[in-house]
Amino acid sequence: MAKRHTAVVVGMGERGKIHLYGLLNNPGSFEVAGVCDRHPDRLEAGADEYSIPKEKRFTDAEAMMAAVKPDILAFATMPHIRVPLVELAVKYRVKGLLFEKPLAISLNEAAEIVRLCHKNNIKAAVCHQHKYLRSYDQMREALESGELGEIYEIRASCKPNPSMLGTHYIDYMIWANGGSRVKAVAGHVHGNFFLDYHHPSPDYFLAQLAFENGVRGIIECGYFSPQRADYHTGFTYNPDNINYWTDDRLTVLGTRGYAWAECSGRCACFTGRTAPEIAAGDYGDFVKREQFEAQIRYTADYARWLDGKAEFSCNLDTAYHGFEILEAIYRSALYMTRIDLPLATAEEDTLALLRQKLNSVAYRKF
Ligand SMILES: NC(=O)c1ccc[n+]([C@@H]2O[C@H](COP(=O)([O-])OP(=O)(O)OC[C@H]3O[C@@H](n4cnc5c(N)ncnc54)[C@H](O)[C@@H]3O)[C@@H](O)[C@H]2O)c1
Repeated sequence: MAKRHTAVVVGMGERGKIHLYGLLNNPGSFEVAGVCDRHPDRLEAGADEYSIPKEKRFTDAEAMMAAVKPDILAFATMPHIRVPLVELAVKYRVKGLLFEKPLAISLNEAAEIVRLCHKNNIKAAVCHQHKYLRSYDQMREALESGELGEIYEIRASCKPNPSMLGTHYIDYMIWANGGSRVKAVAGHVHGNFFLDYHHPSPDYFLAQLAFENGVRGIIECGYFSPQRADYHTGFTYNPDNINYWTDDRLTVLGTRGYAWAECSGRCACFTGRTAPEIAAGDYGDFVKREQFEAQIRYTADYARWLDGKAEFSCNLDTAYHGFEILEAIYRSALYMTRIDLPLATAEEDTLALLRQKLNSVAYRKF
């Protein structure tokens, strides 16, 4: 039997608690040795909710690392807090890292995280875990059965802004395409409302992705994407409505049919076998149940990868490629040209350049 890995979690916000849940529910692989939040109220509330003993609670991440020396560090902090925690992982010689999307705020920072993890042999994963929802399981079955025929196009759309959900959906397109990489991108962006948000991005992007295996990807992300769920809109931001946060869809088109899946739990498969019936689930309770169950499956697969028993689609290198694709979409819009991948340089501060441009453009009626 594989050895259990000791693990600690930094950040007892919404996502940190879900990481904790995923680790606690894989007791054969992980032993939770510490939890941390720099806000004592959040620490106590999260630790109480999961019955973590008092001696395993910390308000300082470095103090926890020094005391516990864990095998695995999981952290779920806002996007601007990444590199310092990866540096802590390096300093205390962890062998595994679990952290949240987006991988970083800039490509430069993303490249530094990859460099640190490669140099120090750290198996890092970025939490693009919706692939473990049951709606996506049905998509996986449709893909693996071959019933869609030859895949020629993959589409994705999501309502929340690009830095919130865009990296998720780029990753899911790569996954649905069997891991093929993207070789070129053409993109459009607009809108400055979210440029200074904690997940900074333009308000909307639309892009064509040319995959190396010939499949074409079309993705749009942000307020102007099609609305498929029920909530008030009118091109507005709807953060208080869960239907807004799960208003997204991955669609895979093949020569013999097509299938789609959403984070809302809905999914459908249209092929010679299923037509004219729509095979749709409506699990409907993403927040209460689905996202917790998906986290258990995600964490179990991470453990298998850590122990060298299987590949893992949420690995850092794939996440970096996804982040690079997002960066290429932005650069394509900025410089009004096709962008080829891989990008030769991570140095450019694309968001700062977009800020200059997008802040100087006001919406106007033509
Ligand atoms: N994968 C998903 O489906 C999904 C869903 C929602 C959010 N997210 C991502 O999860 C991340 C966190 O989101 P959240 O809503 O949980 O954030 P949050 O702000 O609710 O929680 C973050 C917590 O981390 C703590 N923290 C930050 N820096 C710290 C440090 N150095 N030491 C100790 N504690 C520290 C904060 O005090 C806070 O309590 C974001 O990047 C977000 O994009 C992912």
